[in-house]
Amino acid sequence: MGWDRISKSGSARRRPRMPSYEAARRQFSWAEARAALDGLPEGRGLNIAHEAVDRHAKGPAGGRAALRWLGKDGTRRELSYAALAGLSDRFANLLRDLGIGKGDTVFSLLGRVPALYVAVLGALKNRSVFCPLFSAFGPEPIQSRMAIGAAKVLVTTPQLYARKVRALRADLPQLEQVLLVGGAEPEPGCQSFERRLEVASEDFVIPPTDPEDAALLHFTSGTTGRPKGALHVHEAAVVHAASARFALDLGPEDVYWCTADPGWVTGTSYGIVAPLVVGATLVVDEAEFEPERWYRILQDEKVRVWYTAPTAIRMLMKLGPDLPRRFDLSALRLAASVGEPLNPEAVVWGLKVLGQPFHDTWWQTETGGIMLANFAATDIKPGSMGRPLPGIEAAILRHREDGGVEVIGEAGREGELALKAGWPSMFRGYLNEEARYRKCFADGWYLSGDLARRDSDGYFWFLGRADDMIKSAGHLIGPFEVESALMEHPAVAEAGVIGKPDPVAMETVKAFVALKPGFRPDDALRREILGLARERLGPAVAPREIDFLDDLPKTRSGKIMRRLLKARELGLTEGDTSTLESSS
Ligand code: WT7
Repeated sequence: MGWDRISKSGSARRRPRMPSYEAARRQFSWAEARAALDGLPEGRGLNIAHEAVDRHAKGPAGGRAALRWLGKDGTRRELSYAALAGLSDRFANLLRDLGIGKGDTVFSLLGRVPALYVAVLGALKNRSVFCPLFSAFGPEPIQSRMAIGAAKVLVTTPQLYARKVRALRADLPQLEQVLLVGGAEPEPGCQSFERRLEVASEDFVIPPTDPEDAALLHFTSGTTGRPKGALHVHEAAVVHAASARFALDLGPEDVYWCTADPGWVTGTSYGIVAPLVVGATLVVDEAEFEPERWYRILQDEKVRVWYTAPTAIRMLMKLGPDLPRRFDLSALRLAASVGEPLNPEAVVWGLKVLGQPFHDTWWQTETGGIMLANFAATDIKPGSMGRPLPGIEAAILRHREDGGVEVIGEAGREGELALKAGWPSMFRGYLNEEARYRKCFADGWYLSGDLARRDSDGYFWFLGRADDMIKSAGHLIGPFEVESALMEHPAVAEAGVIGKPDPVAMETVKAFVALKPGFRPDDALRREILGLARERLGPAVAPREIDFLDDLPKTRSGKIMRRLLKARELGLTEGDTSTLESSS
């Protein structure tokens, strides 16, 4: 028997929150989804932080755990909805006291610590724009993102500040305030987060918030040029709430664990906002991936809904079924995945070994929330990303010669995955990059940059990226950012960067470098360049491998042909590159 479909009929699980996909699609309207949210009192608009905490804090759920934090050292700390409301009120007041207001950007560079959650929610209450940065970034991605985002406030730790930010301070003239979490005596130009929080008032009334007011900023990489700051608005909460119910089957009585770091969009949309909006209890693990620790968390915290990523799942699979069988995972009732293609074997492995199949979901930084999913109530097709969320129209498009696009009606044909523009969590722009934003749309469709096909049941199947973007361990990496860092080494004349296929991480970053005259392509130089890139970019973005070439293949206009480098790396003959080139 094959595993083309994991059927939901006859399963003993309890009734999902969306019992019938077809009925939900028919009946759904964004207006009703919006009406299901609370809204600020007296019609003062819509604010994510009100939906996520204040609304629950004031009601009977006030004492329920919003956040269950597991520290690296074994500390376990719970924050109730009421406590989180109070702390985020304090942070909102702290910002206001510092003269930080509506539309000002507040950045964080933090691990998964409670202060991060307090800061996001407090900044949203103050109508500031919050941008969480991944704490493993090196100084370069930090500097470029803070400059583009015109960061006025940074919340970080003394260690991260000393290692990555202090030396950049002169290049960040907009940065007015640095708040250090967990420091004894803050250094010059910084203040203590805790001390300021302590003296701030615990009463904050969220000012009128237009649903279109900017709320969150998430950077994503481009194949050319600087990183792009995708801007999201408070209205996005409508999608967070609806998709949490539909795709994650998540509700108030659920203990929920999202393994993504808030430095990436999944860790904010589904690691903070969505679960709190629906009133769930959020498990936050400060530590890095460690198989035994993860199984223990699933068991001990009685995680009911788990949202994770294919790279982690593949690493668990590699270790085999004996380890998970030592744990009681019976609390788990929905497991989902996002970020990169999920192998069909992984879906089935979940069912056999964890007792739950993985439900693949698809979305992007730009979409703000889950757009395609294998739902709790529908059959899973292992290997497929699933079907569109109620309220979302997805299609496969063909690009016409005249620059327009056309929906490919027939099932099974390859084209670009696109979404009918206008859903509430759609990004509202790339910061200061109107032209790049406009290029994402054609004839009323948002173009995803992914190649896919749709089958006759309406399920979408991922085929690849239409561009040179690299996916490594679920993180989208722009080759340009890596090439720019490599070029800073005095020996490097040219650099071209590709994603090299990897059985676990999907891809790893590989660089091809041509040296300036007078430099010898030896191992010492290779190590030196790799070391520099790692220091500048951080381990999540830096290349793993460098090959030296005499020169790099280029188009007539001088653009490095990454696709050709990739084709050679994959062992395709250059004649085979026609297909690679045509989709660029
Ligand atoms: C790109 C978006 C918000 C999700 C986290 C990443 C790839 C995402 C899947 C999936 C195959 C996937 C796509 C997409 N991707 N989910 N289920 N199957 N590929 O957000 O960093 O903006 O990356 O991740 O290529 O375009 P992101």
